[in-house]
Amino acid sequence: FFEERGHTRLASDSLIPSNDPTLLFTGAGMNQFKDEFLGRGRALKRATTSQKCLRVPDLENVGLTPRHHTFFEMLGNFSFGDYFKAKTIPWEWEFFTEILGFDPDRFCATVFTDDDEAFQIWRDQIGLPPERIYRFGEKENFWPSSAPSQGPNGPCGPCSELYYDQRPSEPLPEHEGLEDLPGRFLEVGNCVFTQFDRQDDGSLSPLPQRNIDVGLGLERIVAVVQGASNNFETDLFAPVLETIQSLSGITYGQDSDSDIAMRRIADHSRAVFFCIADGAAPGREGRGYVVRKILRRAIRDGIQLEMPEDFLTHLLPCVQETMGAAYPELQEQQPTIQALCSAEEERFRDVYDKGIDRLDQSLETLRKEGATLFPGELAFELHDTFGFPVDITEVAVRSHGFKFDQAGFTAAMEAQKDRARAGSDLSGDVFCESLSQELLAQGVTSSEFSGHATDRSETSLLAICQEGNAAKSLQPGMAGELILGVTPFYAEGGGQVGDSGQIFIDDGALAFEVTSTHQEGGLIFHVGRAVSELQVGDSVQAQISVDARRSSERHHTATHLLHAALKKVLGDHVSQAGSLVDPDRLRFDYTHPQAPTPEQLSAVEVLVNEQILRAQVVSKREESLEAARSAGVTALFGEKYGDTVRVVEVSGFSAELCGGTHVENTGQIGLFRILSDRALAAGVRRLEAVAGSIAFQSFKQDASRLSDLAQFLKAPAENLLDKVRSLQGQLKEASKRSGAQAPSVDVLYEELRGDSSLSAQRLMGLDAKVLGRLGDGLKGREGLPPVVVLMGGEGDEFPFVILCDPNSGQKAGALAKIFGKFIQGGGGGRPDFAQGKGQNAGGIEDGLVALRNAIGSSA
Ligand code: SER
Repeated sequence: FFEERGHTRLASDSLIPSNDPTLLFTGAGMNQFKDEFLGRGRALKRATTSQKCLRVPDLENVGLTPRHHTFFEMLGNFSFGDYFKAKTIPWEWEFFTEILGFDPDRFCATVFTDDDEAFQIWRDQIGLPPERIYRFGEKENFWPSSAPSQGPNGPCGPCSELYYDQRPSEPLPEHEGLEDLPGRFLEVGNCVFTQFDRQDDGSLSPLPQRNIDVGLGLERIVAVVQGASNNFETDLFAPVLETIQSLSGITYGQDSDSDIAMRRIADHSRAVFFCIADGAAPGREGRGYVVRKILRRAIRDGIQLEMPEDFLTHLLPCVQETMGAAYPELQEQQPTIQALCSAEEERFRDVYDKGIDRLDQSLETLRKEGATLFPGELAFELHDTFGFPVDITEVAVRSHGFKFDQAGFTAAMEAQKDRARAGSDLSGDVFCESLSQELLAQGVTSSEFSGHATDRSETSLLAICQEGNAAKSLQPGMAGELILGVTPFYAEGGGQVGDSGQIFIDDGALAFEVTSTHQEGGLIFHVGRAVSELQVGDSVQAQISVDARRSSERHHTATHLLHAALKKVLGDHVSQAGSLVDPDRLRFDYTHPQAPTPEQLSAVEVLVNEQILRAQVVSKREESLEAARSAGVTALFGEKYGDTVRVVEVSGFSAELCGGTHVENTGQIGLFRILSDRALAAGVRRLEAVAGSIAFQSFKQDASRLSDLAQFLKAPAENLLDKVRSLQGQLKEASKRSGAQAPSVDVLYEELRGDSSLSAQRLMGLDAKVLGRLGDGLKGREGLPPVVVLMGGEGDEFPFVILCDPNSGQKAGALAKIFGKFIQGGGGGRPDFAQGKGQNAGGIEDGLVALRNAIGSSA
């Protein structure tokens, strides 16, 4: 509809707002157009989108009411200094009444107190009876809500909302807010006339252009179109509700409690799948915390409905079925979504069991104390930490004869809501000013990056920042950030660290040492310290540290080759979950359900090195995002791209969208070596590797260790394995001959005493029991060092015992944990006596060194 009216249809932005660290999640269709509203973004006049949104302040209502969601889709049409009220209101009307077939007689509209223009359009152009047009204040009819009196600063404007009457036979209300009549008026659209820029003093200064921001809630519209009384009872949620019913064996519509739980699972699982697909994994802080909280509420309901373990992963295909065509990321990120949901479910089921235990314990303690009231704080803790529904706590508490402290619970809940609001309310976050915005507003133009072509640029100093504020000059010795017109410094991004280097002034003298570089709002900030005085307007030369940059480039191109090689060896499901590229190494996080075998890792290494030996050209080109996608270029998870993208390609092997810096030719990487690969989270692995001279150094180090070993064992390197095997055999024989006799405690004592910090004794062939007995015998003897380690065993089982002098302050249990790790095992115990075992005697030496470090001795 809006395309026919000259709007450019754009894709939904990510749920994680790009270039806006102040905003936790995308909560409205307009978020991606902040710059366009201010008249400085893309060259767009009209746009239309269907935007993925997440809003959490109403989390508690989801499932209970017919309309609340965390995740929803907002249909939008936008004008950037183009058409205004007189066009948009008739279009919304036409869209609802003619395209969607809503009954025109059932609409009411609202306008801002003094917005006569909008009032007249509704009355005269649309023909809406005046009694159906309501005027409300800034709370209802300004966006962001109450912006004039409460902020935030930035673009805002009066709005006009469109309501659909669900009980048209009742008389029209006089003055009340339409939403105060429960279940009657459904807000289906909001037209914001974004024409002001709120200032610090609360004044509304007109924007250079007048804009339109319309948002229509898809879920509600579908409910009206399908005649459903509840957003969940529509095609949008049918497949997922069906699967929830078949997994739980409970029929929807039979019992209101289980209906609520089912709706909540349907909403929350969908929200979480989309969050993870956009790169927000469940975690402890920020976005991750929100995702975890939503996810745990869904799992908790699943447990209540006795859904089978891992039920969440069975719901993903239903959401893919309804939404996958519009949002391919659900398919592309399937392995990651499944892996993270399964892991979280497993973890939470465990937490939940503990929550039940905690509830039982609390009841027990309260009973012993003779209390009669179950504190609201405790109920809140169960709710917040363990995801316990408060009604379950309440029922359990009452059934044990306690009173429930509803007031205390509500107070704790409110306090939490205030905290959440402070962190996620739209009005607080949407338009937060940053230094870059301030500088851009002052006319500082965005920086031009010259570093794909050169390491040094002549340019001028556009701005200086000191302690977060713009400054005119910077004195020698002061820390600050510089913005240059043109710069060869790469700003941190796409996993590659920002460049370091130097800035010289006109006469060639060193003026500033750059330690890192980052970017914000199109401006590149050079962070460092002044060596001589600098002033805005100075002509300068910017020079990057070439060796460090070349090494980062080797690691960056190697990362692309590695990504492609992992896909070839492990399968196409492998996708990048994170990456770090710096001069010293590369770190690559990827999704894969289990540990790759050593053979697979070696095959990956071989593939990458083959590409290096082929000395292939690494080509870089700019093209449209669409062209790149249809050519099958790998686009990264959660990344935001402009309309024109840069493709970095090693012909026939790897092609990725990337703005980073790369070698010219794969031959320049020289050599590639994987150092380690380990599990990071369920289904996600972290691989570390090195390239170029660093890889060469690491091989050299190994070679020198090998030659030391060969010298020590007096065998040529190629025979070392045989030599060690034969030594092991001899040891076994020897211990057999000696009958693995335990030494007497006295003999052992003589051998161990005298050392000032730690003594260790290897007692081949002895088992844990015998070691324990010896340890007991040594306990409390004078003259022993503060820490004594006894190691026994042979073959692949090595028990050990650690004794600590109780007056030494050392803790045997903690030391046993450390030591256990080094021999691929574990240990623990009391502060004076601990035991453990491991499987790898090769780690003994390092383990003892670690123990000496831990007890603070250099011996
Ligand atoms: N920004 C407005 C809203 O979120 C209209 O799109 O309601």
